[in-house]
Amino acid sequence: MSHALSPVSQLLERNQSLFAGKRLLIAGYLEDNFALHLQTVASCVSIFCTDYHRYRALQASPSSPNLTLEFDHQPRDTDARYDALLLLLPKAKRESQYLLACLTPLLTPGADLFLAGENRGGINGADKLLALYGDGSSKLDSARRCSLVHCRLNAEPARFCLEQWVTNYAIPVDTSTVNICALPGVFSADALDEGSALLLAHTPPLHGRVLDLGCGAGVIGAVLAHRYPDIKLELCDINALALESSRRTLAANGMHGKVHASDMLSDIAPGIDFLITNPPFHAGLNTLYAPTEQMITAAPGRLAKGGKMLLVANAFLRYPPYLERAFERHSVIAENRKFRLYLAS
Ligand SMILES: C[S@@+](CC[C@H](N)C(=O)[O-])C[C@H]1O[C@@H](n2cnc3c(N)ncnc32)[C@H](O)[C@@H]1O
Repeated sequence: MSHALSPVSQLLERNQSLFAGKRLLIAGYLEDNFALHLQTVASCVSIFCTDYHRYRALQASPSSPNLTLEFDHQPRDTDARYDALLLLLPKAKRESQYLLACLTPLLTPGADLFLAGENRGGINGADKLLALYGDGSSKLDSARRCSLVHCRLNAEPARFCLEQWVTNYAIPVDTSTVNICALPGVFSADALDEGSALLLAHTPPLHGRVLDLGCGAGVIGAVLAHRYPDIKLELCDINALALESSRRTLAANGMHGKVHASDMLSDIAPGIDFLITNPPFHAGLNTLYAPTEQMITAAPGRLAKGGKMLLVANAFLRYPPYLERAFERHSVIAENRKFRLYLAS
């Protein structure tokens, strides 16, 4: 199976005997479906997934009764217990710290903690991440610029408290402010993105059903709800931590909206009056344009009659040919040195 696997999964495959007979919890940046294969080695496998794209792919694959699969921002079953945690290092260090903090309370005393990831993703800092949990970590294997690091849990981890991981900031909107709440690793966790700022400065008047696609911490949706309290707001993202951040952002401002997971337009019902987005062009550590290109192509099918799409993107991204093909009209309604704001109808 190796040829289809990421370098990290290949490293895990050749070390899979480490997981034999264990009740294994797997989380973090799952680049492929290799985690499912560990069902054949471990006594049971639980995959805690914060990425809806991977969750859907795992869900669609055949599995055995000794597999449980969850998509959320924190584990729901806090009574479950595991002998080993395998964390596939996510892009943001703070997200690794968050996942260790929320998952280690599910481990039995003396459990194995495994961290795997690419050098460019920071796996060489694994000893620092693990220092809170064990007495010294060791590198078990490395290949193809990836490493697998281990330590044994030697202390009872502190009870997880989600509130301690939420950061807050306020952004001025007209004569007031909107409060933003963000969990680790979520886009715009500390400040308003320049592209989103350009979009918000030039948004036309809105009405009806408004979708903030790839909502992150809910910045765009919350500012728009502040300006146009009568809109029917919907926010979606692929990342469970982003969804929880958006829920908290809306609540912090006394706003209402439907917040739900969607892999681009996968879970979006037709009939949107305004599709508003600062779309992604990364997946994990890699640049990836295809999801946004496919979203542009499919977007007209989700719009109501007369519906519009407002999309902000780095000026170097080549979305116009896709807009040209998918929409009757499109134009750049604002731009600066780095970003362009497109309106398509
Ligand atoms: C450039 S950020 C914009 C975040 C937020 N709207 C803002 O302005 O701060 C793009 C967002 O898209 C999300 N995303 C990435 N891939 C996605 C996908 N396939 N479907 C939906 N959202 C996705 C990311 O998690 C991230 O929150």
